[in-house]
Amino acid sequence: MIDGFLKEIANMFDFTRKDACEMMRSFQIEMENGLKGRKSSLKMLPSFVRRPKGNEKGDFLAIDLGGTNMRILAIRLLGQGKIETIGMRRFSLGKEIISKTEDVFFDFIADCVSAFLNEHKLDVFLEVGFTFSFPVIQTSILSGVLVSWTKGFAVKGVEGHDVVTLLDKAFKRKGLENLKLVALANDTVGTLVTQSYINPLCDMGVILGTGTNAAYPERLESITKFKGMWYSEEMIINIEWGGFDKIKMTKYDEQLDKDSENPGGQRMEKMVSGRYLGEIARRIMKEAFEKGLLGSKELKDIFLKPYSLTTEQLSLIASDKNIFNDSGIEGISDKDIRLLKEIGQIVSKRAARIASAAIAAVLTHMDKELKLEHVIAIDGSLFEKYKGFKENMDTMMKEIFPNQADKIHLSLTHDGSGIGAAIIAASLSSH
Ligand code: BGC
Repeated sequence: MIDGFLKEIANMFDFTRKDACEMMRSFQIEMENGLKGRKSSLKMLPSFVRRPKGNEKGDFLAIDLGGTNMRILAIRLLGQGKIETIGMRRFSLGKEIISKTEDVFFDFIADCVSAFLNEHKLDVFLEVGFTFSFPVIQTSILSGVLVSWTKGFAVKGVEGHDVVTLLDKAFKRKGLENLKLVALANDTVGTLVTQSYINPLCDMGVILGTGTNAAYPERLESITKFKGMWYSEEMIINIEWGGFDKIKMTKYDEQLDKDSENPGGQRMEKMVSGRYLGEIARRIMKEAFEKGLLGSKELKDIFLKPYSLTTEQLSLIASDKNIFNDSGIEGISDKDIRLLKEIGQIVSKRAARIASAAIAAVLTHMDKELKLEHVIAIDGSLFEKYKGFKENMDTMMKEIFPNQADKIHLSLTHDGSGIGAAIIAASLSSH
């Protein structure tokens, strides 16, 4: 019985080479449409940033906001691709904070910044780079209107507003006079910029964490929808690939989407990113339970409640840690745990393969025949910590490019999202 069920799930979630090639074609069409300002599930947002030279210098503060943890960093850029982190602290953004009103939310951020400055005795004048990892339409490097929240964030009064103005007002309310916001960036842009600062071969930044997305440098002449002023021949584009919706979905994906806070939105993100993989697996486990395939009654309660199984737990199970024993839940049979592990594998394997197909689509958009070497800067807990995720990505890449996959280097870029904002801030004073 269980074997039959697993086989059925594995078939449903199979993402073959053929699926990848089809996805790459429609992904590239959506990219083109997005760049031309036509209807597309890829927003292709101009970032007002180009790749750095590597010689940018100075001390900066970076605020990195976009997942369950906000990070604040004091960064020293030494030039020649050298970066020193003077201080870094994580602040957890609990459910209560991410569903408050705009003023409470931004006051909380300003309070965290204030605590960080006190802790590190930083009372000097500091330029601040703000990484805000949500879809934002920018009209300059220092302004951007939030289109819609993603990843479960639901702070009221921010959608449709300029997030730089909101943060700046909170700084003023909290008397943070020595801070000057100078740059706003997406985490993918920050990650790309950080790796390019160190390695000029880098031409893509990818996040595989709570959410997923990517950025790459585009030739200005191809961004035909862009009517503003820009001083360089290239501009980094924030693809917002989490929104890609030309992709085959299972009934579990459909249901998850329907029940989510943003139905119809972030379809690819809901199949790939950390916020959702645990939830997909939970839905499958619930069905297994209803079909009488699970022995342990204790599991029922766990699998009944939406989002009660996190991707982090799934990742621990993948590494053979017994999360149930650790949380004092006893009596779960090995057989049930094995089923959960297999389901986790199926769900995370598809996620990794879709991520690789999306990267492949962007690479062949930039370099049709893959003539060059490409370094892809990747940050995020899925890529970094989920057992087998990177290997699954590598395997898909080899299937897509049997003879050229060795030209593609997936490179973990820690804290790139925050550090990148500092580099962008520095590059503003150097061009
Ligand atoms: C957001 C992106 C972000 C990604 C990774 C998505 O939900 O829309 O802007 O880059 O998450 O953090």
